Amino acid sequence: MTSLWLDRARPVRPALDGETTCDVVVVGAGITGLTTAVRMAGAGLSVVVLEGRTAGAATTGNTTAKVSLLQGTKLRRIRRAHPLALVESYVEANRRGQEWLVDFCRSHGVLVEEQPAVTYATTRVGELRVRAELEVARQVGLAAEWTDDPGLPFAVRGAVRLADQFQLHPVELVDALADDLETGGGRLFEHSRVHDVSRTSSGVRAETGTGTVTARHLVVATSMPVLDRGAFFARQVPQRSYAAALRSGWVPDAMYLSADSPSRSIRRAAGPDGPLLLVGGHGHVTGRVPSEAQHLADLLDWARSELGGTEVTHTWSAQDHGPAAELPYVGPLLPGDDQLLVATGFDKWGFTNAPAAAGLLTARVTGRARDAGALESWSPWEATGLPKALAANGSVGLRMAQGWLRAYTRTDACPAEGSGVVGHDAGRPVATCTVDGVTHRVSAVCPHLYGVVSWNDAEKSWDCPLHGSRFAPDGSVLEGPTTEPLAPRA
Ligand SMILES: Cc1cc2nc3c(=O)[nH]c(=O)nc-3n(C[C@H](O)[C@H](O)[C@H](O)COP(=O)(O)OP(=O)(O)OC[C@H]3O[C@@H](n4cnc5c(N)ncnc54)[C@H](O)[C@@H]3O)c2cc1C
Ligand code: FES
Repeated sequence: MTSLWLDRARPVRPALDGETTCDVVVVGAGITGLTTAVRMAGAGLSVVVLEGRTAGAATTGNTTAKVSLLQGTKLRRIRRAHPLALVESYVEANRRGQEWLVDFCRSHGVLVEEQPAVTYATTRVGELRVRAELEVARQVGLAAEWTDDPGLPFAVRGAVRLADQFQLHPVELVDALADDLETGGGRLFEHSRVHDVSRTSSGVRAETGTGTVTARHLVVATSMPVLDRGAFFARQVPQRSYAAALRSGWVPDAMYLSADSPSRSIRRAAGPDGPLLLVGGHGHVTGRVPSEAQHLADLLDWARSELGGTEVTHTWSAQDHGPAAELPYVGPLLPGDDQLLVATGFDKWGFTNAPAAAGLLTARVTGRARDAGALESWSPWEATGLPKALAANGSVGLRMAQGWLRAYTRTDACPAEGSGVVGHDAGRPVATCTVDGVTHRVSAVCPHLYGVVSWNDAEKSWDCPLHGSRFAPDGSVLEGPTTEPLAPRA
């Protein structure tokens, strides 16, 4: 599936070839890696970005790209776990990230549209959540207001609205960030997956299949961190969700998100023959549902029946990570270590959190400030997320056992076009799929921490239900935390 945003001609960049050095090497060229690289370069540092696929190919190019301080019911969820001061710190960081991003767009010819953000409720439970969100939003100084009629074409119980928020085209942004980086002397290499990171006497060394970069600092901006140091894979949950662009008789004049479950997102986007309706949602933990295609079908049914959507022009899906204590992780990968830095855990709000993280990491590396406030990667409040982290890891253990057991109860067989099965061959779990007439046979064991992958019938990929690594039909890596492919099987 290709997103509305990625369906365009893009600049092509070379792979890393040979050895090079710089002040900061950034791993990953989504919004996090690119905003970090641009800000580091702006501070006078020499920067290299290594991207395993192409810039924006993972979550950033498959998002809904609202740049908003009203974030569904996120403030309420943070407030339930933390004192008000931390919510204020989170909002302030996001406000700075939003301001930086909007300024960047306006000064670099990226269209950024002002829109109100709306969180709406259709059920009693949703209404309670929305009212609580309004209260917290006001407590932290946001000019949020209640409305009984947020302008949707179906009945709601009410909504919270925040004026003067933004939406944009994420791939226009990615390309402008990459251009700006290169204009400022930074370097971006594509198809350059980092397989290993080691220490040197003066810094760190990142290795791809075709070269190495030695630097004073390394920033892991791979969404789920590809380095296991710090165990961030055990501190957040990968959440996959769906999006679609449709022609429609109704297009919204605001950016909407439901407070009810399943979560549903609505905005407009420019299409070749006029505005399109863009919808998103119906998410789940990566790799843990019987049919991803059914989640997408449910989203499309809803867009047609409730919003008047007609012809579907694009469908796509992506994942982001929900942190155990609700707050992102920005700063050292290991406590007190400024050589290896990380930015992750944006919980589907990376368009304000990532530029905020970029500013905080740049301040840290240049010695201007060390405190990331609510976004700190190692913090005393992390303990509040312990019960959620333990529950998440308990279900990881269960999935691990289920995956291996299931593999042993099925035989390895050649599946029909578009489908994949996990079976076993001489005691080893094997994943077999047929896509575009080609049958691929690879190990079903995820090289990260040995989860057994499952077939994603929407994306035609192998997804790991433990920490969200994803693989193409031929076993090559689509998303981390893994850095290694599924091994081929004869
Ligand atoms: C469906 C959906 C809708 C969303 N909508 C919104 C929204 O409206 N507003 C909002 O603020 N946020 C939204 N988000 C969240 C937002 O899109 C993300 O937080 C953000 O895009 C994450 O950016 P990133 O750069 O951290 O990750 P990514 O965009 O995933 O970038 C990471 C990059 O690292 C690369 N990489 C991985 N491993 C390696 C390796 N070993 N070596 C080299 N490169 C590697 C990947 O290929 C990738 O390009 C949404 C998320 C989803 C899933
Ligand atoms: S992603 Fe961790 S085991 Fe697969």
